[in-house]
Amino acid sequence: MKKYGKYVKKYWYSFLLGPLFMVLEACGEFILPYINANIINKGAANGDVGYIIENGIYMALLAIAMMITGILGANFSIRGSSRLAAGVRADVFRQIQKFSFANIDEFTTGSLITRITNDITQIQNFAQTLLRGMFRSPIMLVGALIMSFVLDPSLAVIILIIMPLLAVAIAIIIKTASPRYGKMQKAIDGLNNGVNETITNHRVIKSFVREEYEIAKFARINDDLVNKSTAALKVMLFMQPVSALAVNITTLAVVWFAGKPIMIGNLEIGTLTAFITYLSQVLTALNFLANIILQGARAAASDQRIGEVLGAKLDLTDQNAAHPEQTVQHGEIELRGVDFRYFKHNRDKVLNEISVHIAPGQLVGIIGSTGSGKTTLISLIPRLYDADAGQVLIDGIDVRDYSLKNLRDGIAVVLQKNTLFSGTVAENLRWGNEQATDEQVVAAAKIAQADGFIRELPNGYDSELERGGANLSGGQKQRLCIARALLKNPKILILDDSTSAVDTATDASIRAAFREQLQGVTKLIIAQRITSVADADQIIVLDAGRIVGVGNHAELMQTCPTYREIYDSQKDREVTE
Ligand SMILES: Nc1ncnc2c1ncn2[C@@H]1O[C@H](COP(=O)(O)OP(=O)(O)O)[C@@H](O)[C@H]1O
Ligand SMILES: [Mg+2]
Repeated sequence: MKKYGKYVKKYWYSFLLGPLFMVLEACGEFILPYINANIINKGAANGDVGYIIENGIYMALLAIAMMITGILGANFSIRGSSRLAAGVRADVFRQIQKFSFANIDEFTTGSLITRITNDITQIQNFAQTLLRGMFRSPIMLVGALIMSFVLDPSLAVIILIIMPLLAVAIAIIIKTASPRYGKMQKAIDGLNNGVNETITNHRVIKSFVREEYEIAKFARINDDLVNKSTAALKVMLFMQPVSALAVNITTLAVVWFAGKPIMIGNLEIGTLTAFITYLSQVLTALNFLANIILQGARAAASDQRIGEVLGAKLDLTDQNAAHPEQTVQHGEIELRGVDFRYFKHNRDKVLNEISVHIAPGQLVGIIGSTGSGKTTLISLIPRLYDADAGQVLIDGIDVRDYSLKNLRDGIAVVLQKNTLFSGTVAENLRWGNEQATDEQVVAAAKIAQADGFIRELPNGYDSELERGGANLSGGQKQRLCIARALLKNPKILILDDSTSAVDTATDASIRAAFREQLQGVTKLIIAQRITSVADADQIIVLDAGRIVGVGNHAELMQTCPTYREIYDSQKDREVTE
């Protein structure tokens, strides 16, 4: 509840004025039927037109006052609840920014989207209902009960009999609905995950002509949501008919028992009319209270889900860093007995007892079949994930002892899945370093072998990239991403399969430029092609999460069967190509 408290405090006037105006409006509700009864009993019965007009004016004024206080009450309730929701939303967003990849993997993207949108909306709706009804409904309930006793105690007993019955029915409905809300929110997670995946990957889907498959897949997720939400909401819909039945039965009973007293003149018509109005007020108030509880049950499910995000253990923080001021100086890398799993409940390790030493300035190749753990291995260096066991050291210092900022400032990673942003080529390159001069931008592009094609673009470095570079070829995009990484001026440069779409000759030129101009930078190159790593100082061969060979090309050809296998398979292919 602490997460809401600070916003209640901050917007206290809305949280105070909302309920206050609603209570004022409720006071009008008590007085109105009373005046009405007087008009009928005293005015109409005696034919006193003056009395009728006078009291009619009171009623009209009261109705206007009630409308104004009602609008003000609703207005402050909406304001307060929206501000509250916005505040919590910002908090959740801030927390997600602190998340590690592992945190996001655990929640899934779709679920985080549901939590920050739909779940917070549930809280907002509940807060709004609460502000409108939390004082108004109990006051109406008690007030209308008192008024009905004042009017006719013996008839009022009927209300007291029906009320507990209705309360029990409502309790049953709420108890049934509550657990279904959690399931419904989970189904919304599924929906968001599905949409997210499809839209993010729409190019792939189109190129494989998998639209129909995706539509069918979506239909299943959609059906699931229909089932879960129907299950939850239909229980809620029982409320309306059940309370209508209660109102009708009570009215019937009141009229039944009022018949005789009216005939013998013990009860006036106006009193009976007022009584029936109070009766329906009691039941309406009860209904509204039930609604608060029902929405509360739904909000509770959402509250828990929001709490999970806000309370998530940030598994990647630098709060305990021993050397927060330390920056990466040389780019020496050492892994000592590193084990890693993506999900801690999985039995199989993705990386197994990885130990390797890379000297500053070396060019190191990493090779291995798909899924052998190459990307995972390099992810541990800038702490995109943390090792489960063992240590990752840079310049002899555990990566966990650097501040995340200093660590990641010293390391540039060109990820397998690259993203360019809308904007010019130069703007994209300056993502690596906003202060880079034009000369630095060009120099980086030259090393990445991108300068040539950039100059051939209509406006050179000032050419606009359409939709994240859709107007460039895959190889061109890869080279821009390399140039962008170089502009960070890192001590360690990691390329994860970043030249896969670049032709072999250009690929070789990039490495030659690395050797000449990036001597002080440790370079890790993950590649599919053996030619991309054959000239490296050191090659690491991975197989099923283990290192099965370390050495240069000649040594590995002698000692590492896996390396030979890869070499042979690619040699054959090159011959046939
Ligand atoms: N984010 C992730 N969550 C769960 N499993 C993953 C994730 N990324 C990779 N894996 C699994 O870890 C293993 C190694 O993957 P990866 O390091 O990407 O291999 P490579 O880069 O060599 O192709 C694979 O079995 C893969 O399915
Ligand atoms: Mg990979």
